[in-house]
Amino acid sequence: MQKLALLGFGTVGQGLAEILAEKKAALKAETGWEGKIVAISDVMKGSIYDPDGLDIEKALHIVKRTGTLDDYPDSERLVRDLDSFDTIEQTNADTIVEVTFTDVKTGQPAIDHCKAAFRAGKHVVMSNKGPVALAYKELSQLAQQHGVRWGFEGTVMSGTPALRMPLTALAGNDIKEITGILNGTTNYMLLRMEEGLSYEEALEETQQLGYAEADPTSDVEGYDARYKIVILANTVMNSLLKVDDVQCEGITHLTPYDIKKAKSKGKRWKLIARVSNENGQIKASVKPEMLDETHPLASIQGVLNAVTFECDLAGTITLSGPGAGRTETGYSLLIDLLNIYRNHL
Ligand code: HSE
Repeated sequence: MQKLALLGFGTVGQGLAEILAEKKAALKAETGWEGKIVAISDVMKGSIYDPDGLDIEKALHIVKRTGTLDDYPDSERLVRDLDSFDTIEQTNADTIVEVTFTDVKTGQPAIDHCKAAFRAGKHVVMSNKGPVALAYKELSQLAQQHGVRWGFEGTVMSGTPALRMPLTALAGNDIKEITGILNGTTNYMLLRMEEGLSYEEALEETQQLGYAEADPTSDVEGYDARYKIVILANTVMNSLLKVDDVQCEGITHLTPYDIKKAKSKGKRWKLIARVSNENGQIKASVKPEMLDETHPLASIQGVLNAVTFECDLAGTITLSGPGAGRTETGYSLLIDLLNIYRNHL
């Protein structure tokens, strides 16, 4: 029985909790895996810890109704108000699910959460991009030193296996280039602008749909896609790429006129993230590119994401799928948990 502590109980944390509540029996029957949430610590919603396991359906119901965990019933075992570090260090959880709101510029507090968890001998699964983009080498070495695992499938394309597929199913290939549409917000905006909306209207729509980052500058300036291409480069290509090494240009200067003009020529603007390995030299960029409508990535529309791996043995492999979403990102955490249990990558 894997004992989980959730740091953060927002959309993604609740998404995972819902999956665990709904699929508990099926997961046990199909995989043998059983997970129990023993603690939730959220800066805004409050913190609850029961060493025997929380009633997760009750916690979900209460948080949806009241916005906090204050009404979760007291018991002799229930401990309240543990902060994130106390939750890592003082609870009986063996795995930390890190889904806090992370500052993508510093990667904090998630980087320090990872360090504390690894030093305490606990696994971490997360969908926060900051720590993986900014501190992959240091954190993966620390996890290894302490004999624990670090899962972060959801950092790139949520539950679509953009990391695990190349690392497992495509193992043995020399991957020379990775190209992708890795940001759903901008891809959706480009579609809606092609359909006649202004930049501001298109951005507002993505915010209403919940795709955009808390600060959408990260989407429209390409920073979110830059984090993701760095994660792909460092995990799949085993490079030591830094965020600042990536040439980055967003979609802010593209006008509806540019988009319509491209369309009239049978072309389409896409925000393309790319990393290549030319004789050991790693080059990466994020920038709008005008693709021919027949290009495989040109047909990736709306919030859909896609990534193409140029493999020396398997050829050109493209994977497309959702890049965000409550259930999809919740699932990305589940697949990390299942693979820790199965002792797979
Ligand atoms: N804002 C991101 C996107 C969410 O639009 O793709 C997933 O990282």
